[in-house]
Amino acid sequence: MKDSNFLKEHNAKSLWHPMAHPADSQANPPAIITAASGVRIKDLDGHEVIDAVGGLWNVNLGFSCQPVKDAIAAQLDVLPYYSTFRGTSNDQVIQLAEMLRDFFAPDGLSRAFFTSGGSDSVETALRLARQYHKVRGEAGRTKFLSLKKGYHGTHMGGASVNGNANFRTQYEPLLPGCHHIPAPYTYRNPFNESDPERLAQLCLQALEDEIAFQGAGTIAAFIMEPILGAGGVIPPHESFMPGVRDICTKHGILLIADEVITAFGRTGSWSGSRHWGVQPDFMCTAKAITNGYFPFGAVMIADAVAEVFEQDETGRAAIGHGYTYSGHPVGAAAALACLEETLRLDVPTNAAARGQELHQGLLALQEKHTLIGDVRGGHGLMCAMELVADRNSKAAADKKTTAVLQEVTYQNGAMVRVSGPNIILSPPLVLSSQDVQGILSALDAGFAAAC
Ligand SMILES: Cc1ncc(COP(=O)(O)O)c(C=O)c1O
Repeated sequence: MKDSNFLKEHNAKSLWHPMAHPADSQANPPAIITAASGVRIKDLDGHEVIDAVGGLWNVNLGFSCQPVKDAIAAQLDVLPYYSTFRGTSNDQVIQLAEMLRDFFAPDGLSRAFFTSGGSDSVETALRLARQYHKVRGEAGRTKFLSLKKGYHGTHMGGASVNGNANFRTQYEPLLPGCHHIPAPYTYRNPFNESDPERLAQLCLQALEDEIAFQGAGTIAAFIMEPILGAGGVIPPHESFMPGVRDICTKHGILLIADEVITAFGRTGSWSGSRHWGVQPDFMCTAKAITNGYFPFGAVMIADAVAEVFEQDETGRAAIGHGYTYSGHPVGAAAALACLEETLRLDVPTNAAARGQELHQGLLALQEKHTLIGDVRGGHGLMCAMELVADRNSKAAADKKTTAVLQEVTYQNGAMVRVSGPNIILSPPLVLSSQDVQGILSALDAGFAAAC
């Protein structure tokens, strides 16, 4: 490794960071992380903190998951790459597809289409949803519906169904035929409704209304996260996703569950859809499928959808979609080892218990610090706090305040993620109670400094 002077001097000079203003990264160079173990990361100066971001919602098993590391190293020696485009396959990806079929059987999902990450998975599901209707002879079903505040990655299709202006405005025009309905976000919504159950019903009515307005026969799919993540951790009322499922079924619209962060235990259930008792038609996964150690993803497909493709005799079901790295043998080997370890450790049980502790601790911080307008969580290890300058007007806290909070929290032992006015927490699912307390006391110090 080059010496620390070189790294600090060149930090953010020759690379542009995702989700950052290039000039801002140069003016305020990012923390340089050089090592990690367990649930902790270490920076160039040797400062070690608990990673309350979990990499980026993906390092569910922490940074020392030896079986995944070993699987990657071993696979690199045997078969570092081969394509799975028509005509070839590999031993790892065949085994992985069988394992995922068993894992997702309770979700009614039995086929896998492999990708290189979350945005790729979303793009795949959107494209296959359109194709499904064409194969069935309903070529007019091309539109997509989604939730405001939802996050579905940054490819053109994904950005088009995204519900946050930050990821859209500078990249418009986006895909035509994508329409959004209000999210079941109790803190701020157009209905001024703070009761979660009533709000869920109002959002479902808005969905019905939009379908009537667009015409059901023009809509291919509705895509949603079972618990909205990057948009600020918004858990809907338990009636919401089942309600969406019913409406989609009634109108012949496919339901795509974007589970890039919720699959594999984060919500305290094995999948977010299972958490709400819903079976989607497609499920997008990525991130924790390899514990973040290899870029990889899988779109899981429901039996009924798979049958339409597999029984097609018109030729329309030939899949004109795929990635060079679809079914990458090293990624597949990593995912096999990761799934085994995820099951062995029964991570949802710990995610649920530690998630409750974290959520309760954040509510206690809210009692103490007026900066915290809203606390969201209570479903596994995904929580957020929305910061406000004033609780009555709910005016968002400014950037300087969130920057101070993040820096002082970091100095006191925890890395947290700032996204607009939200502080987002998505730590590894192998977190201990002591780690939860460590995150909370670092945040307490951060809030004391930022107020
Ligand atoms: C729900 C959801 N969908 C899609 C994506 C995009 O995944 P990736 O960044 O791997 O492309 C993300 C990333 O955070 C996500 O949270």
